Amino acid sequence: MRKVILAYSGGLDTSVAVAWLRETMDADVVTLPVAVGGGSLREGVQRRAISAGASRAYVLDARERFVVDYCFPSMQANALYQGVYPLATALARPLIAQLLVEVAQREGADAVAHGCTGKGNDQVRFDVAVHALDPSLEVIAPMRIGMGLSRDQEIEYAQARGIEVPITKASPYSIDQNIWGRSIETGVLEDPWTAPPADVYAWTVDPGKAPVVPAEVTIGFEGGIPVSLDGVRLSAVELVDQLGALAGAHGVGRIDHVEDRLIGIKSREIYESPAAVVLFAAHRALEGLTLSKEQLRFNRLVSDELAQATYDGLWFNALHRDLRDYVRSSQRVVSGEVRVRLDHGSLAVVGRRSDLSLYDRALATYDADDAFDHASAVGFIRIFGLPLRTEAARQGSAWAWTSPLVDTLPASVVSAEVARP
Ligand code: ARG
Repeated sequence: MRKVILAYSGGLDTSVAVAWLRETMDADVVTLPVAVGGGSLREGVQRRAISAGASRAYVLDARERFVVDYCFPSMQANALYQGVYPLATALARPLIAQLLVEVAQREGADAVAHGCTGKGNDQVRFDVAVHALDPSLEVIAPMRIGMGLSRDQEIEYAQARGIEVPITKASPYSIDQNIWGRSIETGVLEDPWTAPPADVYAWTVDPGKAPVVPAEVTIGFEGGIPVSLDGVRLSAVELVDQLGALAGAHGVGRIDHVEDRLIGIKSREIYESPAAVVLFAAHRALEGLTLSKEQLRFNRLVSDELAQATYDGLWFNALHRDLRDYVRSSQRVVSGEVRVRLDHGSLAVVGRRSDLSLYDRALATYDADDAFDHASAVGFIRIFGLPLRTEAARQGSAWAWTSPLVDTLPASVVSAEVARP
């Protein structure tokens, strides 16, 4: 008899999958629900697994590890897929894949299984990550290879076998959630022109119904990692939970995105990531104060590469590993505090400070105590502009490809008063 470790949520799909794997594949099924926060696990998850026929039902709480090893490093790198998605779902996959592999090795299993269909990104992420860690393990995805049942059929299948059916009513959406964010798709959202109905959102209030008085919060960072809110040191999980609740209460953290899936299709996705949205903005503001312009420019390339690697399920590839080392190194000076105002769905960084700040008021000021050497600017500009003057001299001035402007402006603008003698 083969032994399979199944990534289990306690929902209807994966509960049916337990029985399906036993019956169709003659498998001994061990269920592995991984708590990654944000209501990711259902009540009575172990009991339901046993009722579905699992021989052993684990439950692992990986919230702290998830935030510390996956979410925060990704935020440090400013990694947003296509510039907007904080990658909550994508980040949880390599963590869950790793736990599947570890438990498979511990249990002497020859396969792992997950509840993904054949159309999304998550199947790729699970399969690729599992094989990066242990190429000898088979990956089985029942929903991809013939378990395709409608919801009603699944309920019937479960009831016929005495499997406890979760009492949650059918959601009109497909939802994945963890402490870093909620990902919502399908249903009416499949029309990109349709505004998301109110019932899509669970963690953020309608910005129009947010409290009249804006909130302000001070976030403390050490080496690019958030460590405190309003001066109170918190664990990673506490910080994300508290900041998420505050931002959500002010309607901050909604993202509506038509994104490019790894498998080549465009898909309309709604995300709620209140804590992540605030932390990304605050962190970038602190980087602006503490990193050089060369670092800031180069980091944007790294951000995009890391976001793509995470989205594409390449967490365990070599480039990702090396880029993360670079990010960790670049973050050593990103320490200090950032003040953020939350107001009816929008957020504004209104202050930042750091002992390692590169901002020097004596140099920046326009007041009398200005320490900047104005006279040196003349020599600097002469050298800086030298290549342009050489170009003009050798290849013709920019006038050759610039059209006259004055004559195109309304006459009143150029009518000049003539001074009387
Ligand atoms: N599109 C997102 C991603 O690929 C989220 C997918 C979430 N899955 C879901 N069933 N809603 O990371």
